[in-house]
Amino acid sequence: MILVELKPLNCAADADIENLLDQAFGTDRFARTAYRVRAGLRPLAKLSFSAWDGAALVGVLQSWAVALAGDDGSRHPLVMVGPVAVSPVAQRGGMGKQMMAHMLAIAGDAAGGALMLVGDAPYYSRFFGFDTAATAGWRLPGPFDPARLLARPIGGHLPPALPGMIVGDPQRR
Ligand SMILES: CC(C)(COP(=O)(O)OP(=O)(O)OC[C@H]1O[C@@H](n2cnc3c(N)ncnc32)[C@H](O)[C@@H]1OP(=O)(O)O)[C@@H](O)C(=O)NCCC(=O)NCCS
Repeated sequence: MILVELKPLNCAADADIENLLDQAFGTDRFARTAYRVRAGLRPLAKLSFSAWDGAALVGVLQSWAVALAGDDGSRHPLVMVGPVAVSPVAQRGGMGKQMMAHMLAIAGDAAGGALMLVGDAPYYSRFFGFDTAATAGWRLPGPFDPARLLARPIGGHLPPALPGMIVGDPQRR
């Protein structure tokens, strides 16, 4: 278990964050559909963190204000979690769990909507309670694997089990 210190995301330089994301996800990461959802948004400061081993940035968790724009005209605020990234040299040391646990502890009060993400179900389902129960009717602005479109309730907010499109919600901070 690596003991790291979690700080606000803006304690890390943008270039160092991007470098860490390149290492974790590869430089072709911008082609992922999640980037289309997040285009033009800034990470939610209250739910985004950097993880430090001394002076070394070793982890990042970013969250974003999004919404489900329902086909029936309804709109449902959500928080999109991710990327969650750990430096390759520090992976499998508990840091991903530490960042997610911290985010979940704060999100109950701060999220203002259920949580969703596009990610590996074996990780996010097994450890953090995300699943596909509500997401079958959800769409993203690009190709995606429905088995990786996951959500979970938080703070009394339930993921809406409605058909609709996930869109950025730039008004929310
Ligand atoms: C995915 C990631 C955030 C996990 O963080 P981490 O600090 O490496 O992992 P943790 O120490 O918190 O958790 C370790 C446990 O999760 C499991 N695990 C880690 N990554 C996993 C994955 N992608 N899928 C399934 N299980 C995974 C490990 O097998 C381990 O299980 P164990 O406790 O039974 O041994 C990190 O490895 C990472 O940044 N990977 C590169 C990006 C990536 O591939 N992301 C995929 C998810 S979208």
